[in-house]
Amino acid sequence: MLQSTLFACLSLLATASADCTRDFLKNATDAYLAAQSGSHSEFAPALASNFTYTENDTPISITNGILSENLKIDHNLSIYDTTACATFTEIIVTNPAKPYVITTRMELNDSKVTKMESVVTTNGDWAFNITGFVYYGAMENWDPIPEAKRDSRAVIKAVGDAYFDRFDNASVVVPWGAPCNRLEGGALVVGNLTGDDCEMLFPDDIKVTNRRYVVDEVLGAVDIFEGFPGLDRSQGNAPMPDSHLFRVEGGKIRYIRTASHCVESGCGINGTTF
Ligand SMILES: *[C@@H]1O[C@H](CO)[C@@H](O)[C@H](O)[C@H]1NC(C)=O
Ligand SMILES: *[C@@H]1O[C@H](CO)[C@@H](O)[C@H](O)[C@H]1NC(C)=O
Ligand SMILES: *[C@@H]1O[C@H](CO)[C@@H](O)[C@H](O)[C@H]1NC(C)=O
Ligand SMILES: *[C@@H]1O[C@H](CO)[C@@H](O)[C@H](O)[C@H]1NC(C)=O
Ligand SMILES: *[C@@H]1O[C@H](CO)[C@@H](O)[C@H](O)[C@H]1NC(C)=O
Ligand SMILES: *[C@@H]1O[C@H](CO)[C@@H](O)[C@H](O)[C@H]1NC(C)=O
Ligand SMILES: *[C@@H]1O[C@H](CO)[C@@H](O)[C@H](O)[C@H]1NC(C)=O
Ligand SMILES: *[C@@H]1O[C@H](CO)[C@@H](O)[C@H](O)[C@H]1NC(C)=O
Repeated sequence: MLQSTLFACLSLLATASADCTRDFLKNATDAYLAAQSGSHSEFAPALASNFTYTENDTPISITNGILSENLKIDHNLSIYDTTACATFTEIIVTNPAKPYVITTRMELNDSKVTKMESVVTTNGDWAFNITGFVYYGAMENWDPIPEAKRDSRAVIKAVGDAYFDRFDNASVVVPWGAPCNRLEGGALVVGNLTGDDCEMLFPDDIKVTNRRYVVDEVLGAVDIFEGFPGLDRSQGNAPMPDSHLFRVEGGKIRYIRTASHCVESGCGINGTTF
């Protein structure tokens, strides 16, 4: 009896992890992209009964969120975490009347999406400029890393953590690679792949908390959702919804793409320091 129960548990777990192939995760992001473009028939059944959704760190019903707008998607990029069974997707909508950079992470279990969270950014969010985001973003190469050159999951994750750890610890060395591109919102661009790395001046007193990871060894990528304190000057030190996507090659940062939401349009500084 005990043995058969144990066996049943083991085979369930085996099924759950077997589900988390790249193909399976890609199907999930395809269904999500289709839903954001107006076709919900494949995505709705993929949501678990205990599914939760937050948009810019606020829990809301998914039917009231950005997914209720049928958007014409101009660019998309996804990364797949077959270990944690999670995905990250960046959606770019260039419509000048209503541009968006939407970053979404999904956690899956037992073939269903259990948790989804999006940082939705548009005009008025941190350094947002859709023209710049597309222009500088197109310089990057997100092809798979040749198998022999891939970094381990631990290395890729540690590189992302080093970047955020540096914001409150001056002893941390951030492993910049060159040439590099740091693309914040599209208006704030450092490096632009002209030869230099993206070395930057860090503060020493900003503690970046609540980090949620998606790691993809094939693409050399880690995305970290976290709370960035003080980003919106109108909100004191409240952590702001923020996503940083890193491309790591040979243990070094080549690209960073950020999407950061402001509570008050302009983050309390209205672009004056970008
Ligand atoms: C992915 O979707 C395709 C097309 O719907 C299907 O044929 C395939 O079996 C799916 N793969 C996985 C691993 O779910
Ligand atoms: C939903 O259920 C899955 C198991 O299917 C579990 O991993 C996950 O933590 C649950 N989520 C919540 C919010 O309870
Ligand atoms: C997402 O991007 C890929 C190319 O990277 C493209 O083939 C696909 O059609 C795009 N999907 C949507 C929904 O725009
Ligand atoms: C899936 O859910 C089960 C049951 O809640 C849990 O034990 C397991 O850790 C979850 N797996 C993942 C990858 O979250
Ligand atoms: C947005 O970025 C583009 C390309 O870098 C630039 O030409 C344009 O002036 C910027 N727009 C604003 C409103 O800053
Ligand atoms: C700061 O970073 C250094 C170098 O990684 C590490 O040895 C030290 O423990 C860190 N300090 C704190 C307070 O985390
Ligand atoms: C890239 O950056 C360099 C150095 O900061 C600058 O001189 C150049 O104009 C930039 N190129 C583009 C296409 O923005
Ligand atoms: C920024 O602009 C908004 C809307 O135009 C205005 O309400 C706010 O006072 C401005 N904030 C600053 C710091 O200039």
